This record gives sequence, structure tokens and C-alpha cells, in this order.
Amino acid sequence: MKYKITLLPGDGIGPEVVAAGAQLLGAVGDRFGHEFETNEALIGGIAIDETGNPLPEATLEVCRSGDAVLLGAVGGPKWSDPLAPVRPEQGLLGLRKGLELFANIRPVKLFPALADTSPLRSDVVRGVDLVIVRELIGGIYFGQPQEKHTTPDGRREALDTMRYAEDEAARLLHVAYQLARQRRSKVTSVDKANVLASSRLWREVAHEVAARYPDVVSEDVLVDSCAMYLLRRPADFDVIAAGNLFGDILSDEASMLAGSMGMLPSASLGEKLADGSAWFGLYEPVHGSAPDIAGQGIANPLATILSAAMMLRTSFGLEKEADAVESAVGRALADGYRTPDIMSAGMKQVGTAEMAAAVIERI
Ligand code: IPM
Ligand code: MG
Repeated sequence: MKYKITLLPGDGIGPEVVAAGAQLLGAVGDRFGHEFETNEALIGGIAIDETGNPLPEATLEVCRSGDAVLLGAVGGPKWSDPLAPVRPEQGLLGLRKGLELFANIRPVKLFPALADTSPLRSDVVRGVDLVIVRELIGGIYFGQPQEKHTTPDGRREALDTMRYAEDEAARLLHVAYQLARQRRSKVTSVDKANVLASSRLWREVAHEVAARYPDVVSEDVLVDSCAMYLLRRPADFDVIAAGNLFGDILSDEASMLAGSMGMLPSASLGEKLADGSAWFGLYEPVHGSAPDIAGQGIANPLATILSAAMMLRTSFGLEKEADAVESAVGRALADGYRTPDIMSAGMKQVGTAEMAAAVIERI
């Protein structure tokens, strides 16, 4: 089979980790007899520099014409002036919206070899295996009005709108429940229903959707409590369903359970094609562009490599290939390979390319 993958390296460490991901896909193709055709396009700060637009129309087009997208990261100090008229992040948000990728799947799984790497005690993180299912194209990220203005009495004022329609919450929650059925059959719906109207609707819809999955255990947890439970008893969570902003915040917190942001992959999905044959997706590491270490060849490529594994499984249905990549990552870690972000005493410190090579050797 031939698959068309769009590579969007972006900014900072993005190009380094995407190169590692592309190399890995090439190796999987050789080993299992698939052809992965790759096309590269611009997004983020580099796209602003080259075209003035963080998401050039050509980028959206090439993404739409392919089977899946592998993205690095966007943003950096060069483009972060709060007064700048365009920002790299608009490229990423526009891409998610433009491709209607409403469900962001962020698995947080602790590789046993990294049990001592988390800043949390190893007895707390032992057995962590959860997935955050985050709504990605609604909520306060996209609600209108979103603006800055001057009030009649001359003060600067800015506002954002947190808005959810019932169908936006429902389709996200259905993805969470379907995923839970393939796992440990528990869904935790996160909201702030004690304060926010949009959260009260979210909770109402969560109960309606839950009623259709009587075989799945359902609970509601307020987002502030959820932040606390993630540190106190993280192994109790299975699937966490959350709106855009809450899911963003909780997923960075949860990444620490896996040892490092550099370990966390993600998939952003839209509606499954009606015949169920393919699920177009955007795959990206959860981490950002890490400008402080960009260009040094030391970024951890595992989040991107694990994102590529999610692509193999979810968009291409290549289950055994995905398993092979994930277990190769586990073995590279067990054999002591560590990038600086996950380094600990007695291990072999390596850079991006050596880590990718260690995984590829073990496929
Ligand atoms: C993420 C990132 C993005 C987000 C930024 C870069 C716009 O933090 O993917 O979690 O907030 O969604
Ligand atoms: Mg984030």
C-alpha cells in the first residue's frame, strides 16, 4: 500500500523531531513493505517569515490531498510579541479548524524504564495509563467575540468567549466512550459546572451520552479537582474527556506522569469516513517548539516517533507496525538510551538522531 503523509516541521525543535519521525516511517516502510510518500509544507513562524501567513493556503491544500499529517511544533520568541498582528499559533489552530479535527487524543503511558524519571514518586506514577480526549476546535479557543478594545472611559479591555453547543460536546464525548470501550471502560468528564454555564451544558450532555454506554463507568470531575487527582492517584484514570482549554492544561500536567513532555504523542481526528476505512488525522508531539534547545540535536524525538505510531494504527490501520514501533521505543529505553530531558544516572545520554537510530534498530 502507498500512503501520502504531509510533513509540517514548523519551528524550533520541530524540524529535528519531524526528521526523526520521517526517518522512522521510512524504516517501517522498508521493513513491512509499505510506501510512505512524504511532502513537506510550511506552518507557523517559518511560514510567517516566508509568506507572511502562518498557514499558507498551499499548506492546507497539500494536507487535504494526503492521508495524514505529521507536525513538529510552532512558535518561538521571534514571533511572540503580544502586539504582533499574526502569530505562529494561529497557523496550528487554523489547521485544526480547517481540517475539522475536533478530537485530540493524548495518551499518557509510563514506560516502565522511566518510572524514576517523573518528578513524582515512582509509587504514585506506577501503572499510569490514561488518555486525555480533548475537544480541539471549539470552546474558548474559538468562541467569538474574542477581541481587545478600549472602553468608553479609556481603559484597555480584552475578552474571550467560552461557548459550547450540545453537538460539539456530544461528538467529543462519543469518541471518549468509544475509546474507553477498547480500554478499561471508564470515562471521566471534566468541567467547571459549579461556575460556568458552558460547563453545565457540557455536563448535561455528558450524562445523556453516558446513558448510551451503560457498560462504561462514568464520572464528572471538576477541573480543579482533576488537576489534583492527577497528582494524587493518576493510575485510577482511564479516559479523561475535556473541553479545549481544560484539556490543554491537564495534558501538560499529565505529561509529567510519563517522565517528560518529550514522551507524549497525540492524534487529532475528525469524523471517521462513513465506510470506516480510514480516519484522516494530524499527528504531533504534545510538546512545543522548545526554542532554548533548538538546533542542538538534543531534542527527544520519542513523542514524534510515538505520534507516527499512532498514525500507523489510527489512520492506516497498520496495527502490527504501530506495535512494533512502540515496543522498539520501550526496548531502546530499557537498553538505557536517554535524551537529556529523561536522563538519569547510569544511562547512555544520546541526541535526537542517535535516539531515533536506537529505535529504528529495534523495530
Ligand atoms: C497544544 C499547544 C497549542 C494549544 C498551542 C501551541 C496553540 O499548547 O497543542 O497543546 O494550546 O492547543
Ligand atoms: Mg498545550
